Amino acid sequence: MKQNSRVAFFLVALLCLLALPATNALAQATVAQTPPMGWNSWNYFASKVDDKGIRAAADQIVSTGMKDAGYVYVNIDDTWEGERDASGVIHTNSKFPDMKALADYVHSKGLKIGIYSGPGTKTCAGYPASLGHEEQDAKSYAGWGIDYLKYDLCSFIPDVMEKQAPNDKAAQMKLMIAAYEKMSKALKDATQQTGRPIVLSLCQYGWDSVWEWAPALGGNLWRTTGDIEPRWQSIYDIASQQAGLADYAGPGHWNDPDMLEVGNGKLSLAENRTHFSWWAMLAAPLLAGNDLPNMKPEVKAILTNKDVIAIDQDPLGKQARHVYSDGEVEVWTRPLQGGGMAIAVINVGSDRVSTHPFHLNLEKLGLHGEQSGKDLWTGKEVTMKNGDGIELPSHDILLVRIDQPKM
Ligand code: GAL
Repeated sequence: MKQNSRVAFFLVALLCLLALPATNALAQATVAQTPPMGWNSWNYFASKVDDKGIRAAADQIVSTGMKDAGYVYVNIDDTWEGERDASGVIHTNSKFPDMKALADYVHSKGLKIGIYSGPGTKTCAGYPASLGHEEQDAKSYAGWGIDYLKYDLCSFIPDVMEKQAPNDKAAQMKLMIAAYEKMSKALKDATQQTGRPIVLSLCQYGWDSVWEWAPALGGNLWRTTGDIEPRWQSIYDIASQQAGLADYAGPGHWNDPDMLEVGNGKLSLAENRTHFSWWAMLAAPLLAGNDLPNMKPEVKAILTNKDVIAIDQDPLGKQARHVYSDGEVEVWTRPLQGGGMAIAVINVGSDRVSTHPFHLNLEKLGLHGEQSGKDLWTGKEVTMKNGDGIELPSHDILLVRIDQPKM
């Protein structure tokens, strides 16, 4: 090589090296541009999750068409953790013989894999968590090929908050925020080396208006409430608590009203449909939590309704607002990219059945004149006029997409 070419080669190599961290930072910043979609082990399997179950879930996500519908993350929740070795490195327990091999398997299906820990000494289920080992754990996750971390507050409350700042709520909250900042930084440093970003999911039940500070520290989603349960009342309570949070969600950072219970417990078909539609309106992460190998066809049809998923994944990323209620019927709307609008009319009453119609007031939604749209559950084109009567059975929903609303 001539002297000049050598200098040029050296300069190009140097520029590439300098650009690497920037590229990785960009990758980190571009995860979760739409709400994460996938499946999580907790809601149905809880502590019964194991390597075999995660592989089966990955297989099912592909074979049921869920992957084609947009479900990507296969998330292991609590109870995978084993002991730490003498140097503090976390190991898996006997349910997960080889986490790297499991991650490779999930990746081989074109999917991504998530894991779970917390800032305290113990997770909620009493397994080792990350306190004092944040950098080591982040490195382990990055080394295994993990793509997503759910970080659950739990024992950090008694371990650190109540111990270090007894009776001082404000100081306790500062400690909590610092703990999330610490793991976020550890993840960024660890993924700098691998170039594989890790989505950060905060699970601290919405304390201290998490939506106000989580995006700045690199949180991609944050739970806004306590745990969901497969009962209508739980779903309704959680959905109601999302009103007022719309401005905090957007590409890369989402309010998380908790994982889906679609197909779990004794939820009726209408309740499953409403739960799924409501989460889509809320631009919520869509993390199914059901028994995938034994999924009923009607549950699969709900979870893979591409029109409803398109509302959730709308690139504009604007969460729905509760526009008005009339008795026990609620009306929510969500703006869509390209000037469209999604309208959800929900009968939240347990006793109001469809013996008499609800009359939709389009003017309250800022719409004037006849509107043409698509009913996303029947798949049919619909025309809507001000004052139209809508028959809705208890806990059921009308979900309509209007691409060219007349304002
Ligand atoms: C809870 C969390 C649940 C689940 C559980 C595991 O705190 O909200 O979603 O992760 O811990 O122990």
